[in-house]
Amino acid sequence: MLFQTTPAHEELRAKIRQFAENEIKPIAFLLDQNNEFPDEAIRHLGEMGLMGIPYPVEYGGAGLDALSYAIAVEELARVDGGAGVILSAHVSLGSWPIFAFGSEEQKKKYLVPLARGEKIGAFGLTEPNAGSDAGGTETTAVLKGDYYLLNGGKIFITNAPKADTYVVFAVTTPDIGTRGISAFIVEKGWEGFSYGDHYDKMGIRSSATAELIFNNVKVPKENLLGKEGDGFKIAMATLDGGRIGIAAQALGIAQGAFEHALAHAKERVQFGKPIAFQQAISFKIADMATKLRCARFLIYSAAELKEHHEPYGMESAMAKQYASDIALEVTNDALQIFGGSGYLKGMEVERAYRDAKITTIYEGTNEIQRVVIASHLIGKPPK
Ligand code: CAA
Repeated sequence: MLFQTTPAHEELRAKIRQFAENEIKPIAFLLDQNNEFPDEAIRHLGEMGLMGIPYPVEYGGAGLDALSYAIAVEELARVDGGAGVILSAHVSLGSWPIFAFGSEEQKKKYLVPLARGEKIGAFGLTEPNAGSDAGGTETTAVLKGDYYLLNGGKIFITNAPKADTYVVFAVTTPDIGTRGISAFIVEKGWEGFSYGDHYDKMGIRSSATAELIFNNVKVPKENLLGKEGDGFKIAMATLDGGRIGIAAQALGIAQGAFEHALAHAKERVQFGKPIAFQQAISFKIADMATKLRCARFLIYSAAELKEHHEPYGMESAMAKQYASDIALEVTNDALQIFGGSGYLKGMEVERAYRDAKITTIYEGTNEIQRVVIASHLIGKPPK
């Protein structure tokens, strides 16, 4: 393993940075203020071939590697945390399970338009009683001839209601725990499928997040993903990859805040010299840069393991847990360096501070990441 980027990765970074600086940064404040999804920018990202970065060209993707994808999320989040998670939820959660577990027909019908950016994807796992305990899923899917009848609901679903395609988890065999859960591809607009609250969030406000409500939705039998009972494993495997995306999002948010704070510290003069030359601030800057570098290595190494089909579940949990923990620390320090002016609406560090918090919560809280890491190291407790 190299755990380093190539010139091609850095070219891609420059391309996405230019896009993010030109098309997202100028509107980021208003998107945040108005809780508004960047429809136009996301459409353009699709036209640039960046909504399907890690998927093969034959399925409409860009045929690039997992590290390229992490870099793309990082660069979008560097200017807007919400934009980072839109791409992450679309690629890792809405598209990957179809790529990894879908039939050829499912890939042609659903993955191709997702990877081309013609459609947006989402992932419906979380429920009111199944958050960290994802196996507590209560939504049901009952087979009735050639379709399943889907009933229940999902909460906190990123990209809803903008998404066209949802990978949804439901119980097909009750009372046998996680082995009774199955995964389905559900389309927006099907009878009985509606949306509840569009949440008014603390941060990542440019990303859409809503409830999914299923009331006797007829899901064609051919939309079962994998086999009946495979759902929980599909969800867990999907989250292994998704956590690289959230780690990259956290890194991007922290990197953006760091750059603003560094520039400010070099300009702001107090006690006769730029505050960057005061040891209290220079040590903060040194610590922030070190944490960013550690996070970047963890994320890029997890992406590289995934790319080489090596086990990476523990490494992606480590990357997500560490990058999001330090994103909170780095954005907090960045705001501190700005002092009172950083506390004002309209300041990038204020938005980054709010955007960073969610990365310690979603795609598995950081407490759950530690459960995952420990289970890889220690194994399961004796029964
Ligand atoms: N890959 C494949 N299979 C896996 C797996 C993995 N990574 N992890 C577990 N499994 C399998 C186990 O081998 C086991 O299989 P058997 O039935 O054959 O024994 C089965 O799944 C059950 O495993 P566990 O007993 O470990 O399951 P558990 O009920 O104890 O739960 C958990 C484990 C790690 C806590 C899990 O519930 C979990 O990850 N919770 C967090 C949920 C989460 O991350 N939600 C995020 C929602 S999406 C989101 O947030 C997106 C967004 O907004 C952007």
